[in-house]
Amino acid sequence: MTQPIIIPFLLVLAFLSLFRSTSSTAIPIITYNVVNFGANPNGEVDSTHAFLSAWDKACNSNMVSSTIIIIYVPLGRFLIGSVVFKGKCNNIEITFRIDGTLVAPLLSKYGEIGNNNGNWLLFDDVDGVSIIGVVIDGQGASLWDCKRSGNYKCPSGATNLGFTNSNNIMMNGVTSLNSQMFHIVIDRCHNVKVEGAKVLAAANSPNTDGIHVQLSSSVTILDSNIATGDDCISIGAGTTNLWIENIACGPGHGISVGSLGKEVEEAGVQNVTVKTVTFIGTENGVRIKSWGRPSSGFAKDILFQHATMINVQNPILIDQNYCPDQKNCPGQNSGVEISNVKYEDIHGTSATEVAVRFNCSPKYACKAITLEDVKLTYQNKPAEASCNHARGTTSGFVQPNSCLQF
Ligand SMILES: *[C@@H]1O[C@H](CO)[C@@H](O)[C@H](O)[C@H]1NC(C)=O
Repeated sequence: MTQPIIIPFLLVLAFLSLFRSTSSTAIPIITYNVVNFGANPNGEVDSTHAFLSAWDKACNSNMVSSTIIIIYVPLGRFLIGSVVFKGKCNNIEITFRIDGTLVAPLLSKYGEIGNNNGNWLLFDDVDGVSIIGVVIDGQGASLWDCKRSGNYKCPSGATNLGFTNSNNIMMNGVTSLNSQMFHIVIDRCHNVKVEGAKVLAAANSPNTDGIHVQLSSSVTILDSNIATGDDCISIGAGTTNLWIENIACGPGHGISVGSLGKEVEEAGVQNVTVKTVTFIGTENGVRIKSWGRPSSGFAKDILFQHATMINVQNPILIDQNYCPDQKNCPGQNSGVEISNVKYEDIHGTSATEVAVRFNCSPKYACKAITLEDVKLTYQNKPAEASCNHARGTTSGFVQPNSCLQF
């Protein structure tokens, strides 16, 4: 009587052990520890060469295609000058697992770190690179001081972490501190996922945008916390199919599409979703911004959904008359056409009377703007709205009263 039970049981055991052994041997993992290439975790000895050697090894080794290659950085502080991790590589996937902190050299060497097309750590022409963990510290404070002092001889500084011409990139749990310029830049890339990023720089640090995306498609930014001196996330020309969700932003300048229309010939921005964001004490909430001069650029199919504004100066803003220093644009109209922009479930407090401002191009009115379930107050009273050349509709409860034209 026991046989019918025992046999299936043994079969299951045999099957399980077969499964276990295939799963643990089929995917070989090769780990390159940067310390074995001479990297020093004391934060003082330059480890640039060791990181590049580990990368060269990982990038150029010929493995069977299923091999997982890991570049491992243990705990510690690693001083690194400007580096390009360049493809194309022989391997499908390279994962950086970084428990330590990467530290940029101090101001005296800034000329050197800005060399790299304005990047400190740059990945160029790579496919299938993941970064897990890592704290990167750009040590930008002394450069910010220089810029704030009005000294026009300051170096422009470098982006902490850049990706150019790359596909299938993942960043998971990356912390970016005190970048000299932008923190993370995604430029001419396809299929990028950023998850659990933390970005931190002083509220008065100039041009320290958190994450900047341009000329890229299918980028997703999730579950991130950004506190900086410029835009939390900025969305440049040529961005399509961008998804941003569950972000805390502030201090900073908010989430911005733009500045668009700087160039006469410019790619448009299309299909952007910005969902579930809390803005805390920021200059702007959700903004679209363009230069006030001719351009082929455009922004369309944009959804701003579920935003909480806490004491935000301009919670909802379209500004098409951007003209810094009043140079090369006064008296001209923005050529950037803005259409199909939806604001849904946007609520909270404005730090100024006008919480909704649509200041569109006199040449191309903003079209198909939708406000749905918006409630913004200023000093416990309904805030105000201001419109120029803005067309659209409302639904649900909308406060301040809409000034959109049909
Ligand atoms: C818009 O982008 C999302 C990803 O953010 C994508 O899933 C969706 O298919 C795109 N929609 C269109 C119409 O391309």
